[in-house]
Amino acid sequence: MTEHVSVSKISNYIGQDVVLKGWVYNRTDKGKLVFLLVRDGSGFIQCVAFKGDLTPELFETISKLPQESSVIITGSVREDKRAPGIPGGFEVGIKDLQVVQAAGLDYPMALKDHGVDFALDNRHLWIRMQSQWAILRVRVRVMSAVREYLDGQGFFNLDTPILTPAAAEGTTTLFETEYFDEGSAFLAQTGQLYNEANIFAFGKVYCYGPTFRAEKSKTRRHLTEFWMLEPEIAFCDLDQLMDIEEGLITHIAQSVLKDCSAELKFLGRDLSKLESITGPFPRMSYDDAAKYLIDLYEKETDPERKELLKFEWGMDFGAPHETEITKLYDKPVFVYGYPSAVKAFYMEPWENRPEVCKSVDLLAPEGYGEICGGSERMSDPDKLLARIQKEGLPEEAFKWYLELRKYGSVPHAGFGMGTERVTAWMCGIEHIREAIPFPRTIKRIYP
Ligand code: 4AD
Ligand code: MG
Repeated sequence: MTEHVSVSKISNYIGQDVVLKGWVYNRTDKGKLVFLLVRDGSGFIQCVAFKGDLTPELFETISKLPQESSVIITGSVREDKRAPGIPGGFEVGIKDLQVVQAAGLDYPMALKDHGVDFALDNRHLWIRMQSQWAILRVRVRVMSAVREYLDGQGFFNLDTPILTPAAAEGTTTLFETEYFDEGSAFLAQTGQLYNEANIFAFGKVYCYGPTFRAEKSKTRRHLTEFWMLEPEIAFCDLDQLMDIEEGLITHIAQSVLKDCSAELKFLGRDLSKLESITGPFPRMSYDDAAKYLIDLYEKETDPERKELLKFEWGMDFGAPHETEITKLYDKPVFVYGYPSAVKAFYMEPWENRPEVCKSVDLLAPEGYGEICGGSERMSDPDKLLARIQKEGLPEEAFKWYLELRKYGSVPHAGFGMGTERVTAWMCGIEHIREAIPFPRTIKRIYP
């Protein structure tokens, strides 16, 4: 029996007969020849039906096959540099074709440009298109590279709860739900606090799962549900944390370059931009970044831009500020030591400078902005309690968290990386909603 082969492995079968199982992505008729672009999940490949090779009935069926029909094709593989596809360069001469289902003729996602709202309403079909397929394949590689890297460095993947009793990243972005007789539960904004418990048992851990923010922000960088990687490390300071982030991001970029070059080429990504993503990354203090931004602001003469660039020490960066800082380098840049007032309650204050905390954000080039946020964690139980009270957080819900500071506390640190932001940056796409199979935003929960 002829072997069932996936499109991604087709280069190993030149000159041989194979079976392909997939869907008709596109059809072009040229008289005695019909070209089918067939996708099977692993790639896209051109299959050619020649009238002289097939029965008249079969040739007739093939020349009328609607887009998205599911098919099983038997044919011979040949190399042809001009053949379209992802990766392309190969062609299958059809010897037999079985129609599993002829698709309806009213397929909504015909191969043409669709408005973004229409495409999002049809996300369940849109993911079949080449561009979306390529982006989501990169996402898969980003996620496997993360696991490869951390598992290789001795981290333990221990996942953290999604139903949680309290806020951890500010009370304004919480999704609340009733929890039996226990009052309210909240969808996790982060797994960090539980990671902090886990390091005291396992040393180096990470969680990698969905996180939820009822973000009112309608920007191209915000989703209400996104997948965050969160490593947490015992006996780790801010510099060591940056070393880990550097190693991880370098490994992700190199893995995507190595294994997704066909996808990136299809997306028109400038590969040289990814090739330069290797550590070390520049490390800039918030103070220096603030000086630079204030200077830019003062020198700006265009009133509209001046308004956008407005900056003074103590402010958090807006997107225009991040863009200005990242423009200085062709690599991601760390900014560390933010004002405590703009960061979460759990960050360790700087020695002799309590208004500044040991936090670090990693900002990606080309306008992609913050891809990682992390910090050293506050180790003093009294200061931590004071901060919890000041934020108006429910003390009882943090009893266990405070106890971590009592029984063998150590300096520790961790960070969170947004999968969709990293994927969008790797792909060079505009909006992170295409970097997740089914995006959730304030205006969208369908499909
Ligand atoms: O900076 P954030 O809010 O940090 C935390 O949640 C920490 N508890 C992480 C930690 O230290 N363990 O989020 C971390 C990253 C951001 O840098 C960004 O990449 C991503 O998560 N992120 C979002 N991605 C998409 N949509 C949103 N609404 C996001 N909010 C954060
Ligand atoms: Mg952040």
